[in-house]
Parts: sequence; structure tokens; C-alpha cells
Amino acid sequence: MHTAIDQAHFRDVMGHLPTGVVALCGLTPTATHPHGLVVGTFQSLSLEPPLVTFSVAHTSTTWPKLRTARRVCASVLAAGQEDVCRALSSKQPNKFADIDWALSDLGTPRIAGAHAWIECDLTQELEGGDHVIVVARVVRMATGWGDPLIFHKGRLGGFGAPSMV
Ligand SMILES: Cc1cc2nc3c(=O)[nH]c(=O)nc-3n(C[C@H](O)[C@H](O)[C@H](O)COP(=O)(O)O)c2cc1C
Repeated sequence: MHTAIDQAHFRDVMGHLPTGVVALCGLTPTATHPHGLVVGTFQSLSLEPPLVTFSVAHTSTTWPKLRTARRVCASVLAAGQEDVCRALSSKQPNKFADIDWALSDLGTPRIAGAHAWIECDLTQELEGGDHVIVVARVVRMATGWGDPLIFHKGRLGGFGAPSMV
């Protein structure tokens, strides 16, 4: 017997857990620009082998395209990259129109000026309620610049004053 949890209450309470903001981007062979979306669910999973995980809603229209890239770059956004977050979490057709990115020699689109980059191969998808839990194997990782962008209680910010999404 499960106690019913109101969705708004779930969002409110879980919103008290601060997260990083990660842009997951990949380029498919036939695409003219990358596919990308923002997740707050990105985290490390295993050291040996080096695995990371994140979850994507079944309602995502970007994920069915992005998953076909097989190799993606997780750009950990830096404080000041709120515009990148807003563009990649939007539903606009070309989210990358105003985003500065570069293709790495491993074939993944890296967001310029990010706080860190984790390039990984998508290896497994597991059922997770109304989300799919994705497991990916890290092929290369590096740190970037600045402080992280943080998402907390519906607001984006750095360690200083937050701004609305
Ligand atoms: C800070 C932040 C964190 C998010 N985290 C997730 C997440 O972990 N999983 C997810 O499916 N969507 C998440 N979203 C929503 C997606 O980024 C995005 O809005 C949606 O995938 C865009 O729609 P599309 O996939 O149809 O292009 C997040 C959005 C924001 C702003």
C-alpha cells in the first residue's frame, strides 16, 4: 500500500535539493546542428567502470533524437550560463542558434565556457516511472572554468544572488 503523494508537493520538496545544471548534447550523422537538453539529474554512478547516470522524461521530444547520437557530451554549466540553460530547456526548433559550442575530436558538441565536460557513450536505459534512467560510460572528462550554475527551488544562480528560470 503506497501513500498518495501530491505532484506539486513532490516537486516542492524535491526542489529543496540543489542540483547542478548539465547540458547533454550530441550530434547525429545527418543533423546540421546538435540536439540537446538540460538535466538536473546527472550524477556519478561508478568509478570502475567509469559510469554516470541521468534521467529523462518520457515526454521529452529531444531525447529520441539525442539518444541516436550514442556518444554525448555533458557540459556542466557555469554560473552566468543561464541563457544556455534556458535555450536548451526550451522547445524551440534550433536551440543552438545563440549558443557557442565546438565539436570535440571525439565527435561531441561541447558548450564553450562550461564548468566541466564529460564525454560519454550511452550504454543502458532502465525504466524509472515516467522517466527513463540512462547509464553512460565516460570516455573523457575535463574541468573548465568558474563556479557552477545551481538550480534550487525553481531558481537558477551561482553561489551569489539567484535569478528566475
Ligand atoms: C534546471 C533544469 C533541470 C532539468 N532537469 C531535467 C531532467 O533531469 N530530466 C528531464 O527529462 N528534463 C529536465 N529538465 C527539462 C528539460 O531540460 C527540457 O525542458 C525538456 O527536455 C525540453 O523539451 P524537449 O526534450 O521536448 O526538447 C530540466 C530543466 C531545467 C531548467
